Amino acid sequence: MCCLTPFGCALLPSKAIMQSVQKQISDKLRERFLSATRVLVLTGAGVSAESGVPTFRGGGNSAVWKGLPFEVISSAQMVERDLPAVWEWFDYRRDLLQALQPNPAHTEIAAWQDHFPVFTLVTQNIDGLHQKAGSRDVIELHGSIWRARCVGCHARYEILSHGTRPDECPGCGDSLRPDVVLFGEMLPALAFEQAAAAAANCDLCFVIGTSGIVYPAAGLPAIARASGALVCEVNPESTTLSDQCDEVLTGKAGEVLPIFTEVRSPGAEVRSQK
Ligand code: APR
Repeated sequence: MCCLTPFGCALLPSKAIMQSVQKQISDKLRERFLSATRVLVLTGAGVSAESGVPTFRGGGNSAVWKGLPFEVISSAQMVERDLPAVWEWFDYRRDLLQALQPNPAHTEIAAWQDHFPVFTLVTQNIDGLHQKAGSRDVIELHGSIWRARCVGCHARYEILSHGTRPDECPGCGDSLRPDVVLFGEMLPALAFEQAAAAAANCDLCFVIGTSGIVYPAAGLPAIARASGALVCEVNPESTTLSDQCDEVLTGKAGEVLPIFTEVRSPGAEVRSQK
């Protein structure tokens, strides 16, 4: 059963789910959460699943657009071959995203930026839901669906929700493309360097809602663990990263993460369904 909340379509964890998650949180994790000073969070598509954003690989089938597999329509080759088709695909996804709201996982993560002395949020998601939940300085490893980039001068332009995007670069007049890392493309170097530096210098690392299949993002938890951080995975399924984690919290991010509201502010009421 789900109930509407101030988050619009997000679900509050039932009491039963809360109790099962609370049982999963070990004393070691609770202590590290309370003593940690430098925290890294890596998120993937799963953190937005409860907001209505389909994941790429959960549930066995991957997305297809007008007969083209997701990996093809979202590829560098396609930008060369048919940029209007690429834009049509991203315009369609952006339209879907317009109405979607952050869920309790996004909200709890946003609260952590003011709780931990040093906090870094790295996401593989291009949906902008972390920022919509109030997260600042999000390291977007795979870019953002809310930006366009010039293929000539590489200038970047915000695409406002419900807004129209410019057809060509206002600066140099060249074509614009989605400012998203497409298949066959390198990650923005600075973003990954910042993420790797944060991983090598943290004492607690959360890996939330990622299958851990796509590198180099999936390599960050191992960097964190090698530098002595406690690594905790949050996912309803086991992943290729589960064995590399010290702690695994099995469940949906929107139902697991709100539990930490109570951990970080003892006595705080963690709202749940009656
Ligand atoms: N809460 C937490 N995790 C969830 C939830 C949920 N509610 N629902 C699903 N998951 C998990 C799935 O079990 C799966 O492990 O989220 C993961 C989603 O995996 P992918 O679809 O592979 O997404 P991600 O890991 O982010 O993919 C990485 O691949 O396709 C590219 O660029 C794309 O950024 C993406 C990258």
